[in-house]
Amino acid sequence: MKKIWEWAYREIYQIDNDICIKKIKPYRVKTYFWCKIKFTTKIYTLLKFWALNINKIDLENYYKIKKLFPNNIPEINYLDKNGNLVQSIIKDYNWKKTITLLDFTDKIDYSIWMEFKNMVVMLLKYWIEIMDIRESNIFVQEYERWKYRLILSDFKRIWWRTYPFQFYLAFKVNRDKKTLRRLDRLEKILIQKWKLKI
Ligand SMILES: Nc1ncnc2c1ncn2[C@@H]1O[C@H](COP(=O)(O)OP(=O)(O)O)[C@@H](O)[C@H]1O
Ligand SMILES: [Mg+2]
Repeated sequence: MKKIWEWAYREIYQIDNDICIKKIKPYRVKTYFWCKIKFTTKIYTLLKFWALNINKIDLENYYKIKKLFPNNIPEINYLDKNGNLVQSIIKDYNWKKTITLLDFTDKIDYSIWMEFKNMVVMLLKYWIEIMDIRESNIFVQEYERWKYRLILSDFKRIWWRTYPFQFYLAFKVNRDKKTLRRLDRLEKILIQKWKLKI
């Protein structure tokens, strides 16, 4: 098993050519003033996200989005008996592993970004408020030669439960604003990166 990613809550392993699993880390260590506190991740996410297993939230949202945009999320998603999220590895037409916007430096057409933006706006309409729009969560897939589309992954932060101390997010209008602000911020980064003129 090859570890492909590690962040605060999850470790991601590639288990074979086509599948990866997202494992919740056992502990979360936080420093408050001079005190280091070690939480079991389950307890921590229960307090912070109202969820014992954030993979479950992630999965529920995949199902919702799949109905609307089946081509813009990973194909396979399910929980194994240990609560890990099992997911297909996103691949390009030539079976190469698709990379995220974080590593993608080639230029692509602006219309692909517009398509993606419209998709996010549509999701907001259906109350699927993706609050975690960032480069590491968006893949640039070359699904046919010279043809690209953006694929979203990572829906653990959705709705305001994942930001319980930002009370203003209890209102949909504010959540939508936050998501759109993030989209705009990312667009600026991409314009720079891709040297796009609009
Ligand atoms: N289905 C996938 N196929 C290929 N790489 C993936 C996949 N899912 C995640 N990754 C890689 O792992 C990273 C983190 O995955 P993500 O689901 O965003 O977890 P996290 O909860 O740590 O943010 C991504 O930025 C990407 O590089
Ligand atoms: Mg992520």
